[in-house]
Amino acid sequence: MGKVNLPIKWKLTLWYGGILSIILVIFASGVYIYFKNSLQKSIDAKIRSIGEVLSSSLTETHNTSIFGNFERYLENVLGRKPKGKFIQIMDSSGRIGAKMSDIEGETLPTSFSTLESALRGEIVYETIERVTPRIRMVTIPIVENKKVSSVVQVGTSLEDFDETMKKLLIIMIISIPTSISVTIVVGYFMAKKALRPVDQIRRAAVKISSSNLDEKIDIGGRRDELGRLAQTFNAMIGRLKDAFQRVNQFSIDVSHELKTPLTILKGETEVALRKEREKEDYKELLKSNLEEIDRMSSIIDDLLLLSKADAKEIKLNLEEIALRDLIMGVCMDMKIFADRKSIEIDVGELEDVRVKGDELKIRRMLWNIMENGIKYTENGGKVFISSYVNDGYARIDVKDSGTGISEEDIRFIFDRFYRADRSRRRESGSGLGLSISKWIAEAHGGSIEVESQPGQGSLFSMKLPI
Ligand SMILES: Nc1ncnc2c1ncn2[C@@H]1O[C@H](COP(=O)(O)OP(=O)(O)O)[C@@H](O)[C@H]1O
Ligand SMILES: [Mg+2]
Repeated sequence: MGKVNLPIKWKLTLWYGGILSIILVIFASGVYIYFKNSLQKSIDAKIRSIGEVLSSSLTETHNTSIFGNFERYLENVLGRKPKGKFIQIMDSSGRIGAKMSDIEGETLPTSFSTLESALRGEIVYETIERVTPRIRMVTIPIVENKKVSSVVQVGTSLEDFDETMKKLLIIMIISIPTSISVTIVVGYFMAKKALRPVDQIRRAAVKISSSNLDEKIDIGGRRDELGRLAQTFNAMIGRLKDAFQRVNQFSIDVSHELKTPLTILKGETEVALRKEREKEDYKELLKSNLEEIDRMSSIIDDLLLLSKADAKEIKLNLEEIALRDLIMGVCMDMKIFADRKSIEIDVGELEDVRVKGDELKIRRMLWNIMENGIKYTENGGKVFISSYVNDGYARIDVKDSGTGISEEDIRFIFDRFYRADRSRRRESGSGLGLSISKWIAEAHGGSIEVESQPGQGSLFSMKLPI
């Protein structure tokens, strides 16, 4: 069977309607049965007490003459005239000796079994259903000389009792469904009201799209679960907005970064084509074009790498790496660049430590950091490198005596395409180096930290787990 997808407000309503119905019905039946029993008991007690008074009085009297004026006798014995009662004395053969009836149905034929039980000395209660109104009757034996000589029967009309029970039933039949209906209606509206913010949230969610991330859910400063849901939702929209903005900015940056070399390519080519040129000039042009193409190509490679990294598509080629050898190797490569700017590469202590990593990637990270150190240091400056083990990590520090990085920039230097403005125009590069380096460190379970102040040089510290 398919699951019924009722709205929550209906489910809630049905649940408490149903539970209330069950509770009310059980409670009402309990009240009804208890009430009926205790009423019945009190009726039985009443007729029995009359019967017992008569029975003991008759045992003492032995006088059948009183039967001539039975009503007077009853008044004397009971102290008042019994109302709404039926009283008769019957001898052991079932013959009626005396009788008084205040009830309409005059004859009350006793069943044979009742008489028989009474003659054995038992007190018998019975409800006579044949007559209307019904009659409740007790038969009490009168014992003389340890022998039951006759029985006294006291009956009372159950009219009042039946009437009372009927009224009670009617009250219940009316009040139970009424209170259930009222609860259901009130409950439905309460559930609907309580859940209204959910609908508000839903409608706000419908309106949200990538071009409309300013939408905020306002359910009026509630501090309950729904208020928190709305808050969470708003926070999520905020994050989405940031993410979309980043993607947007990223596209702008990519286009910009590729546009520059393309513009140069186009400009140079157009100028060259304006008139006939020497073979050497064409060669020169093609060489220059090739540089721009290389530049674009490397940007695209870097972007591809970062996208793959984002999509977790890159698998590291893990192997044991002797960090000292690797650092020495990179320093050798870097020497050519450093010499051009008369920058001294100062190799400090290199602790002999092995890390598990992807050699090409770690080399590339180190390369980026050292290249930056050289790029952003004035001619004649210094780049200092050292490595040591600390806290279960191999650390490589690259410290330069360069321009340093301002506090505003330092937060962003690891972002894609971010380049601190001052250096942007002067130095080659696309602003992807640190993003890639950071990814490499993190992919190995490490990190890169930076400490820098403008004019004070910078310290880049790479951490790799051993
Ligand atoms: N050692 C450094 N000293 C000063 N600024 C640096 C240094 N390293 C990085 N930066 C700043 O961080 C920016 C981002 O670096 P990076 O991602 O390697 O890009 P790129 O080197 O292509 O500019 C650089 O443009 C520069 O402004
Ligand atoms: Mg760089």
